[in-house]
Amino acid sequence: MRIPGPERQEDGGLSAVAAAGGLHRYQLRLHEAYGPVVRFQLPGADTAVSVADPVLLEATAHIDTRPEELFAFLDPLCEAGNLQVLPADEHTPWRRLLLSVFAGRPAHERHFARRMICGFALGGAETDTDRVVAAFEEVLTEHLRRLYQVPRADPRSAERAEAALAYLRATVDRVVAAHRSDGRTDRSDLIGALVEAGQSPARIRDTVMMTLLAAHHTTGVAVSWTLHLLGRHPEAADRVAAELDQVLGERATPDYGDLRRLTYLDMVLKESMRLFPPGPYGARETTEDLVLGPYEIPAGTTVFYPFWAVHLNPEHWPEPERFDPERFTPQEVAKRPRLAYVPFGIGPRSCEGAALATVEAQLVLAVLLKRLRFRPAPGHEVTPVERFVLWARDGIRMMVRPRDL
Ligand code: HEM
Repeated sequence: MRIPGPERQEDGGLSAVAAAGGLHRYQLRLHEAYGPVVRFQLPGADTAVSVADPVLLEATAHIDTRPEELFAFLDPLCEAGNLQVLPADEHTPWRRLLLSVFAGRPAHERHFARRMICGFALGGAETDTDRVVAAFEEVLTEHLRRLYQVPRADPRSAERAEAALAYLRATVDRVVAAHRSDGRTDRSDLIGALVEAGQSPARIRDTVMMTLLAAHHTTGVAVSWTLHLLGRHPEAADRVAAELDQVLGERATPDYGDLRRLTYLDMVLKESMRLFPPGPYGARETTEDLVLGPYEIPAGTTVFYPFWAVHLNPEHWPEPERFDPERFTPQEVAKRPRLAYVPFGIGPRSCEGAALATVEAQLVLAVLLKRLRFRPAPGHEVTPVERFVLWARDGIRMMVRPRDL
């Protein structure tokens, strides 16, 4: 059966995405009009098949390949081969190593002293984290602009992106060099583990770079959207504060063991990442023919993952736009298909930092919400915008005051 979708357009689908107000709205429209499996022109990949149904997604969950062209904008950040599109035989040991570092308790506990992912990935070396973040923005904006063929707004953007990339490289080099003199410290030491596994110096530098990129904005964005939603839902904010008082008592910060007891905070964080997933999309390339419900998909097809649209699929999320942390009680979770909620992606290329990011976001939220109360800034409109992560166009401005005033 032929996969439904809109007519082909001369411009590769660019104007259809723009007319819908961005890729996410376009995805919602496509799936509403054509059903859970849609063929569409994805700028940068010619034709792709988007799958928004969690049961059908299961049939794709084993795929271990990403489409190269779509991730080519990350080529400049890697010297030893783009880590996003490594062949499976190179990716599998790399993933296992990352998981051994990021998914273990030592890495999570170390966070309680360090607090910042930049500090974590950079092994505590002295760096200007704001400048690192700004440099990634410069590089990604320029290379995404090229991928989507957006006209250059600033004639010097290529030059600036090059300077930003040189700065990032120099920063990573400094970190790696500083580490060598120290040797491996513990199981949470990323560079030490890479050296021990015999990875090449270039692959080590690339991994530090990719970790910084994958981690630097995502967790911060998850925290920001959670504060935004709590600001608009004072009853949920009261419940979070009461839970923090009960679990922490007079203490200002939680211990690692306390996080497990902050169950309502965890439900709030999950509901926030459902409504505003920091990484709203993913993609795979089929390496063999695939059956998806009534459709047959040939090998070599780009499968697009609209994680955000999956999170708003009304069949599994009644009143999908409504903020309701109760959707994440164990009973409610058990009623839904496994892949109805996918903020960290799917299968063998899913996020290796998922557990660490969750601990980090819970820790930051617990520390902030124990002491402070966040309310929306009057007159400030919050508009989601899809950059490399899901961010707000003019930021999220909030009024903050101590809780006990
Ligand atoms: C709330 C925070 C975060 C969110 C929502 C997030 C989400 C994602 C998503 C959606 C992907 C793509 C998955 C796919 O294609 O199926 C991804 C990949 C990745 N993330 Fe995260 N991430 C977060 C934090 C982190 C952190 C803290 C780290 C590292 C410490 C990290 C490391 C990575 C890496 C290395 C990949 C590439 C996976 C691969 O190709 O094997 N992420 N993340």
